[in-house]
Amino acid sequence: MAEAKKLFIKTYGCQMNVYDSERMAEALGAQGYVTTDTAENADMILLNTCHIREKAAEKVYSELGRFKPLKAANPDLKIGVAGCVAQAEGEEIMRRQPLVDLVVGPQTYHRLPAMEQAVRAGARAVDTDFPEEDKFDHLPKGPRAGRGPTAFLTVQEGCDKFCAFCVVPYTRGAEVSRPVARIMAEARDLVDRGVREITLLGQNVNAYHGEGEGGAWTLARLIRALAKVDGLERIRFTTSHPNDMDDDLIAAHGDEPKLMPYLHLPVQSGSDRILKAMNRKHTAESYLRLIERLRAARPDLLLSGDFIVGFPGETETDFDDTMALVRAVHYGQAYSFKYSARPGTPAAERAGVPDDVASDRLHRLQALLTEQQRATQDSMVGREVSVLFEKPGRLPGQMVGKSDYLHAVHVKDAGAQIGQIARVRVTESAANSLAAVLI
Ligand code: 5AD
Ligand code: SF4
Repeated sequence: MAEAKKLFIKTYGCQMNVYDSERMAEALGAQGYVTTDTAENADMILLNTCHIREKAAEKVYSELGRFKPLKAANPDLKIGVAGCVAQAEGEEIMRRQPLVDLVVGPQTYHRLPAMEQAVRAGARAVDTDFPEEDKFDHLPKGPRAGRGPTAFLTVQEGCDKFCAFCVVPYTRGAEVSRPVARIMAEARDLVDRGVREITLLGQNVNAYHGEGEGGAWTLARLIRALAKVDGLERIRFTTSHPNDMDDDLIAAHGDEPKLMPYLHLPVQSGSDRILKAMNRKHTAESYLRLIERLRAARPDLLLSGDFIVGFPGETETDFDDTMALVRAVHYGQAYSFKYSARPGTPAAERAGVPDDVASDRLHRLQALLTEQQRATQDSMVGREVSVLFEKPGRLPGQMVGKSDYLHAVHVKDAGAQIGQIARVRVTESAANSLAAVLI
C-alpha cells in the first residue's frame, strides 16, 4: 500500500473555520491524506484563511512566500488557500503567488477531492462558487478529525445584516440554514462517536430558519429537539445578533437544562449614534432590555460580547456610552477590537478616528473588560459547577475540562474519564482557569 500523504492545515479566524478545517481534513482523508502538525514534511499545505482582521490578504501572501523553500525541496508539494481570503481574492491569488496550486472558497469544500486530483495531475484549480447544494452533505465521512468530547456543528452560514464594518455578508454570502434532518443526523453521529457537547455554529446563528417538519424551524426549536438526543449533554450556540433573539430562545435559557448558561451576544458599541452608523438596527437600550429578559430567564447567565472602538465618527462621548453599557451589563468574557477598514464595506469610505485615540480607547475598554472577566471568574470560587472532562491535567490524577460557564477547570483526583461530566466545587481562581474538587 502506498504511504499516506500528509496534510498540513493552518487555520485562522473563527470557530467556523475550525469546523471547516476538520471537514476538509475528512474530505482529503478519503483521498489518502493524514493530517500532520508541521508544514515541513507535508505533501499538501492548506491555509484556511480569515478576512476579518486588518491586512488579512497581505498576511496570507507573506505566509505563502515562506513556503517557497519547502516547494523547492519537494516539487510534489501542493499548496492551497481556503476560507474567506480565498473567497475575496479568488484568481488574484494565482496571479500574485505562482506557488499556489489551489484556491477554494468556503462554499465548495465538497469539491476539494476532485480539485486535489486535478492539482496532482498538474493543473491549478480555483473554485469560489456559491453552489446550491449543501457542501457538508456531499463531504465523505471519515474518522472524526476533531478529537475529544466537544464538537462544532455548522447549522447556518452567511449573513444578511450588512453591518457597515463587516465583510462576512460578502465573503460568506447570504444567510443559508441547513435542514433540520441533516443537523439531527450529524448530531447523532457525533454523539455515537463520543461527543457530549455540541456548539451550533453560524455567522448569525440565531437567525436559523432551516427546513424541518411543518416548515421552517427556529434555533430554539432546533435546540429543543437536540436536547432530546440521548447522550448529548450540553448545547451551546454562537454567534448571535440581538435582533434575532426571539421569545422562545430566551425562554430556552431558563427551561432547557442542556442549553449552557453562556451567551455570546455582540453589541459592538454602546452609543446609539454609532450603532446607527454601523447599521446595527438596534439601540443600547434595546440591547440592555434584552439582557434583562435573558437574565430573568437564567439569572446566572454568563455574557460575552464583541466591541469595536474607533469606528468612523466615534467621539469621546460615544466611547463613554460604550463604557457605560459595559458597566451596566457586566460581561464575563469579551472580545474588543480597534476598528479597521475592510475594502468593499460601506464604512471603509468614511474618515476614521486617529489611531492613537482609538488605541487609547481600546486600552481603557480592555482594562474594564478584563476587570469584569476577572471578577466573574473569582465569583465562581465556592460555587458548585459541572465540568465536562476533556483531557488529563499535568499532575497525576488531575483532569481538565470546561464548566457550564465555559471556564477551564482543573480538578485534582478526578477519578473520571474523558467525556464524563462531574459536579465539582470551585476552590481557586487562577490567571486563566479555575481549580476545583469533586463533590
Ligand atoms: N474592524 C474591527 N473589528 C471588526 N469586527 C468585524 N469587522 C471588523 C472591522 N472591520 C469584529 C466585530 C465582530 C467580530 C467577529 O470582529 O466585533 O463581532
Ligand atoms: Fe458581520 Fe455579524 Fe454584522 Fe453579520 S451581524 S454583518 S456577521 S458583524
